[in-house]
Amino acid sequence: MKKIFLTTCFVLATTLFSMAQDIVKLPEPDKNVSMTLYQALQQRKSVREYSGKEIDDMKLSQLLWAAVGINRPDGHLTAPTAINAQDITVYVCRKDGAWLYVAKDNALKKVSSKDLRKAVAANQSFAADAPLCLVIVSDNEKFHGGSTNGPTISGAIDAGYVSQNIDLACEALGLATVPRASMEKETLKKELNLTDSQNPILNHPIGYKK
Ligand SMILES: Cc1cc2nc3c(=O)[nH]c(=O)nc-3n(C[C@H](O)[C@H](O)[C@H](O)COP(=O)(O)O)c2cc1C
Repeated sequence: MKKIFLTTCFVLATTLFSMAQDIVKLPEPDKNVSMTLYQALQQRKSVREYSGKEIDDMKLSQLLWAAVGINRPDGHLTAPTAINAQDITVYVCRKDGAWLYVAKDNALKKVSSKDLRKAVAANQSFAADAPLCLVIVSDNEKFHGGSTNGPTISGAIDAGYVSQNIDLACEALGLATVPRASMEKETLKKELNLTDSQNPILNHPIGYKK
């Protein structure tokens, strides 16, 4: 009896532990960044070479909040979306797997244990060397009569706003990036567990400048 009880406790503890590993709470993003918007606009440029230095959780939290975080009590976002569809989700692809940014919890939810940076890089290997790649996905279902037939124009525009937020936030945070449309979309759809109506539109390899 005692043995069964101990085995049950062990199974429960390991299940809870592995569930906890799959959700990573990010630190509250520090929004007191000193670079002005006009300085960031002055400096913004596409960079395709990164140092090996990892990006810590605070920087990642600042980056993701700027990309598509909640900036008002009613749940509106830092990036506008057509009809406030909030069709965009952002995935973080790193050495330790792929993670969905859950803005309302300021957390990362693991969706794959695989390193998908090569699938993001496709024919541009420099992207696979970045410490992380963000993948911007739009969901057609969030629009009236959403189809499964490729991205909508509104979805592509919404992804562009998020991409611009990422570009400027990288500049303000001393990071380097390039917006990219190239990627292995079908592989990413499968590995990120996307639905038929979700389309990867742009990605950003991100790292420190070399
Ligand atoms: C929609 C879009 C798609 C892009 N796709 C790629 C890409 O797949 N690979 C890449 O190296 N750069 C890509 N770029 C970056 C452009 O090449 C870059 O912005 C352009 O050369 C201008 O340089 P700048 O960003 O330094 O001003 C893309 C940019 C945009 C806006």
